[in-house]
This record gives sequence, C-alpha cells and structure tokens, in this order.
Amino acid sequence: MTPGVKPLIAGNWKMNGTRASLRELVAMAEAYDGAMRKRLDMLVCVPATLLHAAASAALGSRLMIGAQDCHVAASGAHTGDIAAEMIADAGAVAVIVGHSERRTDHRETDGLVRAKAEAALRADLLPVICIGETGAERQAGQTLDVLGAQLDGSLPSAPAVVVAYEPVWAIGTGLTPTMADIAEAHHFVRERLVARHGPAGRAMRILYGGSVKPANAAEILAIDHVDGALVGGASLKSADLLAICACCPG
Ligand code: 13P
Repeated sequence: MTPGVKPLIAGNWKMNGTRASLRELVAMAEAYDGAMRKRLDMLVCVPATLLHAAASAALGSRLMIGAQDCHVAASGAHTGDIAAEMIADAGAVAVIVGHSERRTDHRETDGLVRAKAEAALRADLLPVICIGETGAERQAGQTLDVLGAQLDGSLPSAPAVVVAYEPVWAIGTGLTPTMADIAEAHHFVRERLVARHGPAGRAMRILYGGSVKPANAAEILAIDHVDGALVGGASLKSADLLAICACCPG
C-alpha cells in the first residue's frame, strides 16, 4: 500500500457473465457497506452487454461499474465498437484499456492504448491502464525496460488514471511473481509516475493483477506501492472478490 492512498479492488469479468450473473453483483453491492466504503473503492468491469443492467443493479450502492475497452472516437462508422461516451451513458464510471488480452488479440499498440485512455478521460471515465511483461521478456531480464516503454507510450499526460501491473504470464495461470518481484515492479512504476507527474504521481494508484485470489491477496496487498488489485477469475464470485477486499490493510 501507499500511505494516504485509498486502495481500489477491481474485478475484470472478461468475456464472462450473462444477466444471471447480476446476482453476484447485487451480493457485492449489498456487502459493500459503510465501513468497507471507507476502507476501499470497489469496481467491477463487466462485458458491454451487461453495462447498463449492472449499473442499474448497483444503483444506490457505491460499487462502481466499468467497461473493458473503448473506442478512441466519440461516435461514427465503427461497426461493433463502443465509445467511451456510450459507456458513461450506460451508467459506468471506469474502463480498462490496454489489457494484455486486447494487446494480443487485437494487436493494440501503446499509442492506441494512450488514445483510448484519453477518450476515457474525455468522457469522464476513470481509465485503468494495463501494462506487463511476457514470460519471455521476464526471462530475458527485460521486465523493467518493457514496463518503462509501456508507461511512456500508453499513459496520457493527465495523472487522473489508474495503472495496473499485470505480468502476462501470471494471468489466468495460477502463477504469481515473487513478492520481491512485485515490489520491484511497483517501486519502478511509482518512480516513473513521480518523474512524470511530480507529487501527483505519488497519489496515483498502482494495482497488481495476475492470479490474485483470497489465498494470496493479503500478502500481495501488503507490498509497498501495491494500491489494490485487478482480479480476473476470482472476481466472478462475490464471495471470492469480497474475501479479497477483506484482505485490504487499513
Ligand atoms: P486472473 O485473475 O484470472 O489471473 O486475471 C487477471 C486479469 O487479467 C485481470 O485483468
């Protein structure tokens, strides 16, 4: 954690969930009570088909709903794409951009990710910008170089964003870096954010993502400069995501 920074526990449902899954969301919203709201922010990024229904289900609670991608344009001839403004109109307040699955499946570049983050800001959405090295890059000792280049290329000039460090090889594999490796990466990201944004960079949230589950969350969330988690598989069940929230120090 970073002193004075409110942690954010964010779920990423990826391409999972139908209206029946809103049950889980309602359970999360109900459990997210006053004491928990004081301790941490909570966000669930659902598939686009569920955005409006999820935002309605969470209405009246402080549970935030987010999307998983947006287009750079506000409107236009882009069949199948969704503008940040449409996401906001559906009742969501955040959007993940640059997830490694989009960088891989849709060949998204740092430049495109930056433009998407800027589009999110234009629509008053909180961008959660993902960076992370592949297994081959880690083995070649390039992790910090890769993270540095992704930060330089993917971040907009405004500091009103969340950065998520997600080692690609740790996503959905059950593998996690050592605690020392997570600490090294987060410390490096913090230094770069401060170099770029000055004091505002000290308050920016840096999340860890990649096989976070109730069993390892306490250890990970206790690391310096880990200001929350971006959770995939374990965010689909309210009991698991709430158990991760319970591991947040403070
Ligand atoms: P898992 O928690 O399933 O490893 O996924 C992490 C992730 O990609 C969140 O964005």
